[in-house]
Amino acid sequence: MKAIGVGYSPVLVLLVLGAVCGQRRPKPGRMPSARRPTAPQPEPKEPTDFPPPILGPPSIFPDCPRECFCPPSFPEALYCENRNLRQVPAIPSRIHYLYIQNNYIDEVTAEPFQNATELRWVNLDNNRIRKVDRQVFEKIPHLLFLYLGRNSLKEVPGDLPSSLEQLRLSRNQISKIPANSFSKMDHLALLDLHHNRIGDGAVSKNVFKDLKNLVQLNLAHNTLKKMPGNVPQNIYQLFLDRNNIEDIPKDYFQNFPNLAFVRLNYNQLTDKGIPKKVFNVSSLLDLHLSHNKLNNVPNFNHRLEHLYLNNNNIERINGTELCPFPVMSPVLNEEDLPRLSYLRLDGNQLSPPIPMDVIMCFRRLKSIVI
Ligand SMILES: *[C@@H]1O[C@H](CO)[C@@H](O)[C@H](O)[C@H]1NC(C)=O
Ligand SMILES: *[C@@H]1O[C@H](CO)[C@@H](O)[C@H](O)[C@H]1NC(C)=O
Ligand SMILES: *[C@@H]1O[C@H](CO)[C@@H](O)[C@H](O)[C@H]1NC(C)=O
Repeated sequence: MKAIGVGYSPVLVLLVLGAVCGQRRPKPGRMPSARRPTAPQPEPKEPTDFPPPILGPPSIFPDCPRECFCPPSFPEALYCENRNLRQVPAIPSRIHYLYIQNNYIDEVTAEPFQNATELRWVNLDNNRIRKVDRQVFEKIPHLLFLYLGRNSLKEVPGDLPSSLEQLRLSRNQISKIPANSFSKMDHLALLDLHHNRIGDGAVSKNVFKDLKNLVQLNLAHNTLKKMPGNVPQNIYQLFLDRNNIEDIPKDYFQNFPNLAFVRLNYNQLTDKGIPKKVFNVSSLLDLHLSHNKLNNVPNFNHRLEHLYLNNNNIERINGTELCPFPVMSPVLNEEDLPRLSYLRLDGNQLSPPIPMDVIMCFRRLKSIVI
């Protein structure tokens, strides 16, 4: 889990510092205010001719771009979000954190980033970016987070630096992942490609193979019909909701020693597409299979804690068959008991009461929705 700690610490730093600088600013009034990276991001309305004026005294930093806000107490940050910008302004060399989301930028060129070699975090979410020039980010040696979600990219941008820890490309129109897109990116912990147009062909060419430290891969809401091949082995979280996946190869999950969270909600899975032992994976904690076409409860490893099977066509649940030990046996060792604590079965053909053998087997169940 080290990768997670490393990956998220700059967020915490930034949130804390952001909160501090927020407090010291003159009355918020009509100043640009989206200081929180998690705040909901509105779709841009049509651009007006000029950025709204920055109110208040001139910046104490002579290099602060006219369109942006440079907080006096946080000289490494530059806030240019919600400014009706069509272009990236020249980024001063002192900047580590660049917020330029929610604008109308349609192309990211190298020039404004010429001196910005210290950047750690760039948020370009919710613009209209169709194109990222190849030389823009490759020369930024410490770049950790790059957010390009909600734009108009058709392929994964090339030449991204190998220092990256988080790359967010969700909600674009990406259908192509060029062969070397992620090569050498062995620090990347999070790759978010959800809500794009990625089909089986785009992920078939070993594109993910170099991501040795990837923790989360999000390919939800794309057009996959098959489980993606060559998913990096060390992954913890694999999200594939809202694709058209019909089946899972027999040994698919066998080579992921850390895999704990698998989401396959809203696919086309049937009983036939789920080989008997495919979910017998001892690292798995959380399995989502809701909104598929299952008629039966699949087998799962006794260490699984959360199982989502709601909105399928399940007609029966037989605790005797699912139980890893004879249901009527007296208590075994506490640690041999199945770990299942949360089970969702609503939206199926089942009705209460919950069969006694289910209760007898899954003695740690805290909540079951039927
Ligand atoms: C980069 O720095 C040089 C030297 O300070 C300056 O002349 C130039 O305008 C800067 N370029 C940008 C894009 O900020
Ligand atoms: C599941 O895997 C465990 C080892 O993790 C093994 O002991 C058990 O027999 C398997 N169960 C089934 C039903 O294959
Ligand atoms: C559950 O499965 C066991 C073993 O296959 C069988 O003997 C039993 O009748 C089943 N229970 C129900 C309610 O169908």
